[in-house]
Amino acid sequence: MENKQTVLVIGASRGLGLALVEEYCKRGFDVIATVRQQSTALQSLHKQYPDSLEIQDQVDIVNLDSVRALHQKLKGRKLDVLFVNAGISRANELTPLQVSEQDFIDMMLTNALSPMRVVELFHESLTSNGVIALMSSELGSITNASAFWELYSSSKAALNMLAKSFAARHTGDSRAMLLIAPGWVRTDMGTQNASLDVSESIPLVVDVVARNAGKPGLRYVDRFGKIIPW
Ligand SMILES: NC(=O)c1ccc[n+]([C@@H]2O[C@H](COP(=O)([O-])OP(=O)(O)OC[C@H]3O[C@@H](n4cnc5c(N)ncnc54)[C@H](OP(=O)(O)O)[C@@H]3O)[C@@H](O)[C@H]2O)c1
Repeated sequence: MENKQTVLVIGASRGLGLALVEEYCKRGFDVIATVRQQSTALQSLHKQYPDSLEIQDQVDIVNLDSVRALHQKLKGRKLDVLFVNAGISRANELTPLQVSEQDFIDMMLTNALSPMRVVELFHESLTSNGVIALMSSELGSITNASAFWELYSSSKAALNMLAKSFAARHTGDSRAMLLIAPGWVRTDMGTQNASLDVSESIPLVVDVVARNAGKPGLRYVDRFGKIIPW
């Protein structure tokens, strides 16, 4: 059982985060999965993988104290992968004049600032060839902007910028850092109109993470590992 790899998945109650946990469990990782509140789906996964899945609840990514408390709890644990998945979408069809300020602020806090706060706190917990993965989106590309879900898209573009800035402050770091776009996937957020089932996205996402271990630097990629223009 030696050399088991460990992944920390932030935001694992449902959707892509839950699927990430299941995929990493299947691949034999020790998985630490965080949720804000108990998740029945994650609990039943825990019954399937009682020895390798550990659930940490009360972790709200926007509540810095709760993230610091998690960091403190996991002190001394080495991570091979940190996957920050938590995210929200609000006011999808609205424009800047129409969106409520609170909805916009909530997206910026949840999708951009808070994931990077997790990275700031946890990056030293990663092994030297570890991978930091952030769930971005194809919609975060400024080059490819099409006004689809424009306010949400701007929060993912802000995440990408913050990751770029973090990478610029950590040149020479041996760890890989990925902004990953999973494709348009059927989840609560993606809706049933999305083109992909989670099973058509998440295994590929996990493959991309695995292929990037030991490859330093920041990359913005899709689920196939193809570079997306900033
Ligand atoms: N689905 C897609 O097509 C798609 C495409 C591109 C990118 N993404 C990104 O992929 C990620 C997951 O999306 P999804 O489709 O799985 O969405 P989802 O089904 O709505 O799930 C969102 C997840 O994020 C968690 N979360 C939200 N706010 C949080 C907070 N403040 N603290 C901790 N956890 C929080 C949720 O936990 P609760 O259960 O507690 O709310 C839930 O586990 C997001 O970052 C999203 O932007 C999704």
